[in-house]
Order: sequence, then structure tokens, then C-alpha cells
Amino acid sequence: MTADFSLSGQVGLVTGASSGLGRAFAGYLADAGARVALGARRADKCAEAANQIGSAAISVELDVSDGSSIKAALDRVEKDLGTVTILINNAGIVTHRPLVETPEDEWKSVIETNLTGSWLMTQAVAKRLIAAETGGRVVNISSMLGATPTGQVHAYSASKAAINQLTRTSALELARHGISVNAIAPGYIETDLNRGFLGGPAGKRISKRVPQRRFGQTSDLEGVLLLLTSAAGRYMTGEIVTIDGGLNLNVM
Ligand SMILES: NC(=O)c1ccc[n+]([C@@H]2O[C@H](COP(=O)([O-])OP(=O)(O)OC[C@H]3O[C@@H](n4cnc5c(N)ncnc54)[C@H](OP(=O)(O)O)[C@@H]3O)[C@@H](O)[C@H]2O)c1
Repeated sequence: MTADFSLSGQVGLVTGASSGLGRAFAGYLADAGARVALGARRADKCAEAANQIGSAAISVELDVSDGSSIKAALDRVEKDLGTVTILINNAGIVTHRPLVETPEDEWKSVIETNLTGSWLMTQAVAKRLIAAETGGRVVNISSMLGATPTGQVHAYSASKAAINQLTRTSALELARHGISVNAIAPGYIETDLNRGFLGGPAGKRISKRVPQRRFGQTSDLEGVLLLLTSAAGRYMTGEIVTIDGGLNLNVM
């Protein structure tokens, strides 16, 4: 095998790493040789996860919707580990409510966390990468719902559709600086957050529509995460990679 999936010498920052996918992503980057920072608002949970990963990991308090919090977190990571060369924009929130019952502040908080947060993080990390002239990788965690409509998740789906286009536009601008920007669009992946829902009656209905007849596991995303962050995926940029067991194909 000549493809190089090693992340040795790289510094990763995973947002929303206090639970679920983000916590697992940080472990995968560290296993591949990167030093990694786990960021989220619940710094205690990030610290717990960083301790589990070991000496290659640190935790930082981070609110992706707040520019001053982002600056403080990046300063800290740079001081302790070096310039962030791999950014995983994973922090995200979801709300479920009919369109006509959704309050404006709920819409705004989803857009501010998912979309504005990813934009602020990408901008802040890209500025530092351009100054350092190292090149780097940004991976946005989108969702199958960014392309496939379903009811009662309006703000979330709109934020993820916008993240897909943010991925393409940032990729176009940042390629000249050696920075690639891609996205992973997962379908239903079992995490602590949705295990109850996916195990219930609605989950049973949805799983019958997945051509592979099961929900995803966090480990189903490891391969593509490493492809998009390592030298093996060096000629890929602006791509949205859907990982959903074929669910988006099942429109009828
Ligand atoms: N699980 C799935 O089936 C699935 C499918 C498609 C896409 N996704 C996407 O995958 C990502 C992770 O989802 P998950 O399932 O792992 O859910 P989760 O366990 O709820 O994780 C969400 C993470 O985002 C963090 N977060 C929320 N607001 C934040 C903010 N303002 N600043 C920093 N961090 C913030 C949370 O940490 P704090 O509360 O500590 O800040 C938490 O660690 C999300 O973007 C989600 O849309 C998940």
C-alpha cells in the first residue's frame, strides 16, 4: 500500500468533542498520530475524553458561536500543541418542531451554532494557516438532511445545506494556500444523543428505509475522516461525502 493515512506531525482540533461523534473523531485522529485538542462548552467532558485518549490530547473550553472564545481556544492550542493543521467542524445542535411553531430564537441558535460557528472557526483557523504557510485540512460535519428534506428540522436542515455550500466556496478560495475543505454528510449514526429515538418506533420505521438495513456506527465514519485529513486524500477538495448506508437513494 502506498497511500499515506498517517497524521504524524499534525495538530487536530475537533469542535463539539465533549460527546458523540466529536469525541470519537478526536480518538481517531490521535490513533493516526496527530496531537489533538478537544473543544466544546462542557470543558469537563472534553477533559475526561482527552484523559482517555492520553498524552497526545488536550481539552479547551470553546463556544463556536463566540469569536472571543474561538480566539482564546486557538491561542491555547497553538501554545500547547502548535498551529492547528486539521480542523473538524463538528459542533452542532438540532431541534424538532413544526415550521409554524418554531420560535425565532430557536431558529437563530441553530443557525448560529451550526453554520456561523463553522464559518467563524474556518475563518480563524485559515488565517493562522495562511500566516504559517503550512497548508491544512478542514472537514465540516454536515448531514444527509442538508440535501434530503424531512419534516420538523427546518433550521437544522437549512444550516447543513448551507454548510455544504460553505464547504465548496471555502475550498475554492483556500486551495491556493494548500488548505483543502471537504464535508462528511452522515445519515443516522447511533450516538448517546439519539440511541433512545433510534431504538423506538420511529427509529424502527426509518431503519427499514435504509438499504443496508441498519443505522451507522461511529466507526463507520473513521475511514473517510482519515482519508480527508491525511496525505491519502490530498487531491480531494470541495467534496461532500455522504455516509448513510444508502438512505438518500431511497426516495420512493
Ligand atoms: N448522530 C447522527 O446521527 C448525526 C447525523 C448527521 C450529522 N450529525 C452531526 O454530527 C455532529 C455531532 O453530532 P452528535 O450526534 O455527536 O451529537 P452530540 O453528542 O449532541 O454532539 C454535539 C456536540 O456539539 C457541541 N456543541 C453544541 N453547541 C456548541 C457550541 N456553541 N460550541 C461548541 N460546541 C458546541 C456539544 O458540546 P457542548 O454542549 O459541551 O458544547 C456536543 O459535544 C453534529 O454537527 C450533527 O449535526 C450527527
